[in-house]
Amino acid sequence: MEMERIFKTAVEISHFILTREIKPGDMVVDATCGNGSDTLLLAELVGHSGHVFGFDIQPQAISNTREKLKEAGLENRATLYNVGHELLDEYIKMPINTILFNLGYLPGACHRIITTKETTLAGVRAGMNLLKPKGMVIAVLYPGHEGGQEEAVSLIEFAQALPKKDWDVVNIAHLNRSSSAPQVLVLQKVFP
Ligand SMILES: C[S@@+](CC[C@H](N)C(=O)[O-])C[C@H]1O[C@@H](n2cnc3c(N)ncnc32)[C@H](O)[C@@H]1O
Repeated sequence: MEMERIFKTAVEISHFILTREIKPGDMVVDATCGNGSDTLLLAELVGHSGHVFGFDIQPQAISNTREKLKEAGLENRATLYNVGHELLDEYIKMPINTILFNLGYLPGACHRIITTKETTLAGVRAGMNLLKPKGMVIAVLYPGHEGGQEEAVSLIEFAQALPKKDWDVVNIAHLNRSSSAPQVLVLQKVFP
């Protein structure tokens, strides 16, 4: 059988990790629904006994995502909030297995509506507090976008300072591409 390209894009790397780690019955978060491709993958992976909580500040993103789930017959597996992910702990009150942040702007929409370092960091912190043991935050970073460099640096600096006894922290970057190419930051909670 022909081998697959796992590392072609940062999004594909994130999907590889999600597909390997998420199990039927898991409770997961898509912190940036966008056009719904990630939400759809998550809804497939959690099965009928799991659930996806999706967030986006753009009504268009929420309706695109809802439509995509509907087409796949999976709308019952997700609850979508037209709210910033910095507020996710006000909306989710249960332990979560995996939280995905695919940062940047909504493809095909206004590029000025973009994730920012302040709200992303607030969302990541809130998400980390909800994680089950061995749960993960996965963030796709876009240092090449306007404001994306600042956002990526602040997230990486935050991640580097996490205690190693409590968190496994890795950053996956394409070493033979531009230094502003998208990257995948993963924080796995290893305590208790
Ligand atoms: C790169 S897109 C996400 C791609 C998406 N996951 C997909 O599969 O199409 C980034 C999204 O983040 C959203 N966003 C920006 N700031 C946000 C915030 N504070 N909370 C939640 N979503 C936000 C944007 O509206 C945009 O839709």
